[in-house]
Amino acid sequence: MQSWSPASRAFVGTRMLAPMVRVGTLPMRLLSLDYGADFVYGPEIVDKRIIGSERIVNELLGTVDYVKNGTLNFRTAPREKSRLVFQLGTADPELAVQAAQLVAQDVAYVDVNCGCPKHFSLQGGMGAALLETPDKLVDILTALVKHSPVPVTCKIRMLPDRATTLALIDRLVATGISALAIHCRTRFMTPQDPGDWSFFTDVASQFGTRLPILVNGDVFDASDLDRAFGLRNVSGPPRPVHEVMQAYVRYAIRYDMIYQNTKRKGKQLAQTRGLRAIAEFFGIEDEHDALWPSARRGGSGRWHDDGEDLQDGEASLGHKDWNKDGGDEKECPYIPNAPYIPTKKRKTGDVDGADLVAVSNDEAKTTSE
Ligand SMILES: Cc1cc2nc3c(=O)[nH]c(=O)nc-3n(C[C@H](O)[C@H](O)[C@H](O)COP(=O)(O)O)c2cc1C
Repeated sequence: MQSWSPASRAFVGTRMLAPMVRVGTLPMRLLSLDYGADFVYGPEIVDKRIIGSERIVNELLGTVDYVKNGTLNFRTAPREKSRLVFQLGTADPELAVQAAQLVAQDVAYVDVNCGCPKHFSLQGGMGAALLETPDKLVDILTALVKHSPVPVTCKIRMLPDRATTLALIDRLVATGISALAIHCRTRFMTPQDPGDWSFFTDVASQFGTRLPILVNGDVFDASDLDRAFGLRNVSGPPRPVHEVMQAYVRYAIRYDMIYQNTKRKGKQLAQTRGLRAIAEFFGIEDEHDALWPSARRGGSGRWHDDGEDLQDGEASLGHKDWNKDGGDEKECPYIPNAPYIPTKKRKTGDVDGADLVAVSNDEAKTTSE
């Protein structure tokens, strides 16, 4: 460990929010930091999706937004920058490097997803498919380590054969990555199959002096973290789920995240439409309206385009419904089409519209004049 780089040492003894598509958006990441996470992964985002995005400083929300063709692909806040692991879906060294270079100024690490078992990933040679093409995976990691402005990590699953997995890990470690996360299941196991924690012991004994091994799988509560670190008495009593959900909704409102990600199963909640209705469900609609006065009048949500505030030629906001438009649940990996105010300003003089424009720095100067 003495020879570890600072980027590797930073992970020692830390707790992290795992990468989760649809779950690991900005509100969940900030909430996790509030509740003691040391690092947070973003959801997997495919290289081609983020490449070509415009980086917009959103002064209204205090975020940095990556937007392409009117779709918000990634939203981050400065507060999480030193803690954020940006996870890439990739099958190509050059695209991986381009994507890493694009987001580097807003994240702490770039991670390569080598564990996603879903069809979408596998057919593109990404996720768990990379475990079957080790030369390609090594090329990707080598290129990233060389050209990414931020340190690189990698998250894998186990292969069915333990010795083969250890041989693969040996090659991955040699690329110079700063940490290796291991989901202790194979891609053929279901989430219900118990993870094989004994594998961590094998890996740690063989590679633990060369880089940090991040334990992943079957972590249900703080006692599992204790188990993972051999720590004791670090956990408090669980927080009431309502309190946690309310705190989550506060962040979803504050950062205007797509409300479909906010929902949780439950009949009444599932029937709500829009963030305001969800805020109402949690009794915090006043907080919502204080931040977003237009929604009080407009009803279903401030990004929803009913057309009435737009002048001819102005872009539609196009509030897409994930369930209808966002894609196939079986497909993996990216933030679904998210609502986004285009940089184009809405009707001049309309307080609601003008206030809700997300602007880049240059544009901000113009609009505030
Ligand atoms: C909803 C959901 C989305 C996920 N998305 C990703 C992802 O984008 N990238 C990734 O590497 N793993 C993803 N995973 C896997 C988790 O990061 C983690 O490896 C897995 O949940 C660990 O197993 P456990 O649920 O038994 O703890 C996802 C898991 C869930 C439940």
